[in-house]
Amino acid sequence: MIRLGVVGCGQRISGMIRHCFRKEAPDLRVVGIVDPDEEGARGRLEECDRADAVFYKTLAGMVKKAKLDALAIGTRCNLHASYAVQAARYDIPLFLEKPVAVSMQQAVALERAFERSKCRVVVSFPLRVTPLCRLAREYVEKGAVGSPQHVAAVNAVPYGTCYWEEGYRNYAVTQGLFLQKATHDFDYLMYLVGSPIVRVAAMAARGRVFGGKKKAGLVCSRCREADACPESPRNRRRNHSGGSLADHPCLFGRDCGTPETGMNEDSSSALIEFASGMHGTYWQVFFARRDAAARGARISGYHGTLEFDWYRNDLKHVRHHAPFTDTVKAGEGMSHFGGDSELAADFISVIRGKGEARTPIRTGIQSAYACLAAKQSAETGRFVNVRQVGG
Ligand SMILES: NC(=O)c1ccc[n+]([C@@H]2O[C@H](COP(=O)([O-])OP(=O)(O)OC[C@H]3O[C@@H](n4cnc5c(N)ncnc54)[C@H](O)[C@@H]3O)[C@@H](O)[C@H]2O)c1
Repeated sequence: MIRLGVVGCGQRISGMIRHCFRKEAPDLRVVGIVDPDEEGARGRLEECDRADAVFYKTLAGMVKKAKLDALAIGTRCNLHASYAVQAARYDIPLFLEKPVAVSMQQAVALERAFERSKCRVVVSFPLRVTPLCRLAREYVEKGAVGSPQHVAAVNAVPYGTCYWEEGYRNYAVTQGLFLQKATHDFDYLMYLVGSPIVRVAAMAARGRVFGGKKKAGLVCSRCREADACPESPRNRRRNHSGGSLADHPCLFGRDCGTPETGMNEDSSSALIEFASGMHGTYWQVFFARRDAAARGARISGYHGTLEFDWYRNDLKHVRHHAPFTDTVKAGEGMSHFGGDSELAADFISVIRGKGEARTPIRTGIQSAYACLAAKQSAETGRFVNVRQVGG
């Protein structure tokens, strides 16, 4: 039996336990939880865990009493680093949600804490370990494009409204969507081209689409404009435009924040330079819907171009100097395009001492450094050098 302790037993981590960890290890049991919302956290547990899970006030208290084989941290973004710094004291395999840090102070503290730590970490970066991304990396390694010279990455998830109608709208917690979202993309891009990001120039647009002057606390059921608003549950249902179909907070309200006080960006873009000397672009748009969904990258070298997209679920390879282009289709129906089950496989292997994480703590911290540089660049209008792990 694997005895798992959970810090922050919310939607994401309970979903990972139920659908992914347990598939890899049916003998896994949640035996300890640190979460101030005991009722909510207990309600998200599966039947087999409900009786045995004991709630603790602190991580240290749980480690002392619960005889843990593994730990998972699934709190909201701003608490990951402080709990992970505590977890670094123990030799217990850790599954850590992203972003691993939301400030430079947190990221540096995390790097220090793990310098001499025995704690082996699986950072929750599903995109890097998806079969499609790994296939793209294989192509690059085999010379499909020659020496990679340029990358252009896109991120237009069709569910971007969640950053204005759910807890993610709280800027104090997320610190914006480079840290919240691009942390995945910067991470897989560094893996794909085999080189860290060293310099970033970025821009972000805030308060032009979402946010606004509607009164704080407004929900659709109390809004006089709900009949005309494309975001009301009724219109979303009619238009098949995605987002919550339940009564939800207004996306155009004062409580989304303001550009001055801090709010998530509607869209943002970055120019990125890698240590290898190659460069590229990345953009993310949070108001895209339906068939506008896109997430993936195009990598070019003198000999070829490689292009993949997780929504199209395929990879295209164009040979520049031969009359051949081939497209590989990936399998359907996998959570995070297959990345979540790969993360679970890694975590269970690490716990059983049978394998290594493909997303160790270094990857989480390096990506956070790149995101922090992008955030700073968007705030200052300047190029920003990216701090390097161990540098
Ligand atoms: N890797 C991915 O692809 C992916 C996908 C979705 C979410 N996430 C990340 O997962 C994290 C959690 O998101 P969620 O949607 O599950 O949020 P959530 O609000 O459902 O879960 C957070 C949990 O933390 C608990 N909590 C609050 N304060 C706490 C404290 N001081 N100590 C311990 N627990 C505390 C809350 O009660 C709640 O149960 C976010 O940081 C998000 O970025 C990652």
